[in-house]
Amino acid sequence: MKVDVIDLRTALTTCERLGELICIKKQVEPYVEIPSIMNAVGRQRQPCALLFENIKGYPQARAAGKFLGGAQRFGAFYGLPQDFPSLKRHFLEALEKPIPPRLIQNSACKENIVYAPLDITSIIPPVKGALDVDSLYYQPVVVTKDPKNGQRNTGIYRAAVQETGRLTVNARTDRHGGLQLTTAKAMNVPLPVALVIGAEPAVWIAANAKLPYGHDELSYAGAIKGSPVDLVKCETIDLEVPAHAEVIIEGEFRPPFEWGVEGPWPEYLKYLGMKINPPIMHITAVTYRNNPINYVSIPASGGGDEALGLPNQAQLLRLLREFAGDFVVDSFLTPVPLLHHAIIKVRKSEPHHEGLQINVALTAFSFSPTLDMVTIVDEDINIHDLADVDWAICTRCNPAKQVHILPEARTTQIVPIAGVRELDNEPIVKAKMIVDATIPWNYKTREISPGLTFFSKSRWLDIDLSDYVEPKDRDKLG
Ligand SMILES: Cc1cc2nc3c(=O)[nH]c(=O)nc-3n(C[C@H](O)[C@H](O)[C@H](O)COP(=O)(O)O)c2cc1C
Repeated sequence: MKVDVIDLRTALTTCERLGELICIKKQVEPYVEIPSIMNAVGRQRQPCALLFENIKGYPQARAAGKFLGGAQRFGAFYGLPQDFPSLKRHFLEALEKPIPPRLIQNSACKENIVYAPLDITSIIPPVKGALDVDSLYYQPVVVTKDPKNGQRNTGIYRAAVQETGRLTVNARTDRHGGLQLTTAKAMNVPLPVALVIGAEPAVWIAANAKLPYGHDELSYAGAIKGSPVDLVKCETIDLEVPAHAEVIIEGEFRPPFEWGVEGPWPEYLKYLGMKINPPIMHITAVTYRNNPINYVSIPASGGGDEALGLPNQAQLLRLLREFAGDFVVDSFLTPVPLLHHAIIKVRKSEPHHEGLQINVALTAFSFSPTLDMVTIVDEDINIHDLADVDWAICTRCNPAKQVHILPEARTTQIVPIAGVRELDNEPIVKAKMIVDATIPWNYKTREISPGLTFFSKSRWLDIDLSDYVEPKDRDKLG
């Protein structure tokens, strides 16, 4: 059944219907208490979505967290498959058939319009995210356009409160929003920017997708949910934004471009990041719904938003298949730390396939600078079971020949072993590693006796235990 989820509120109602929403009515402090409650919930076996209804100092606003859930909950939002493999297939197919957004005239996010000068922190509560943090943050979906060709980009980049009327936006120069800012700087023109807080699940998830530059994440969001994302025009800048969001902060990066200071932030790799200097956005207006909900996302705070990884799982597989077709059976980015280790399953079925697995691994590195390690396994390995992958590495990989270290290449400063170099103004680079745990072709076919190779696994009869066990003992069977 297709559920009509068009915004954060209907998504929360669906969570409630599924019995997966906890409303917290006790008064909470937003900066550290909300993130700490999210962290405690994130450590639960099945984290529920959270709605904070009584925020100290913000009688008019609310906050939500962990509303995406895993495949099951996300599937329920849009009437999609609710198991990980089928939903990943849906995300993969959606990459091939984008549905462009449509412009509508008005929407609830225009219920309140405030023009600059304004204090954004008086409208929507920011968070610090964890103890030991100084700055105040929002986690918006950020919309910009390429100043040369008007191509839209959408990514999630955190925004930190500076002095009144200014925010930093952490669109690093190697991110697509950052590339557009670099172009605007070269042309010496302002770059309009909109921060979207509390967007619907499909927009959130698509904004986290590492699509090739120039691909429109909002069209991908449409393909994911099977209908166009509604957009409305901004009031003060030339941008269109998701119409059913809770809050839109409008503004621009303007010449002479300036940089603020923020950090540390509780990064998704669980370490606190360092202080950084992202570009400054000047706020021109804020539009918001009555009783707006800030969507708080703190990736270091455990589970509850697993579906966020789905677009990247799909995009990696698409990239590898574009290179090597069905030789690539499947791929999997390990969940912790997502984006740093890819496990790729290949089908070596003839002698000339030998070596191609390394080319596939090299292709994987073009997926994202964050990818630091690729493990390649054969068809019989369950790539979602790290114990099975470990078994393949220990039994099929001779590290002297099958581990390949690539000299240093770009990674992210969030990995502390590389990030620490930024303190000395050194490049954020580290070695990349390929672990080839596939059976080398010439060994794969060597027989120890007719029909049995060195890599033949032990086999047994197919047994139905209930044929052997007395009825009184059957409940002892797992
Ligand atoms: C909650 C959350 C916060 C994020 N914050 C940032 C950030 O501050 N800076 C950044 O470059 N990427 C951040 N990301 C990851 C990007 O949104 C993601 O890599 C996206 O693909 C970037 O879009 P782009 O490829 O269009 O640049 C964040 C992701 C999530 C889920």
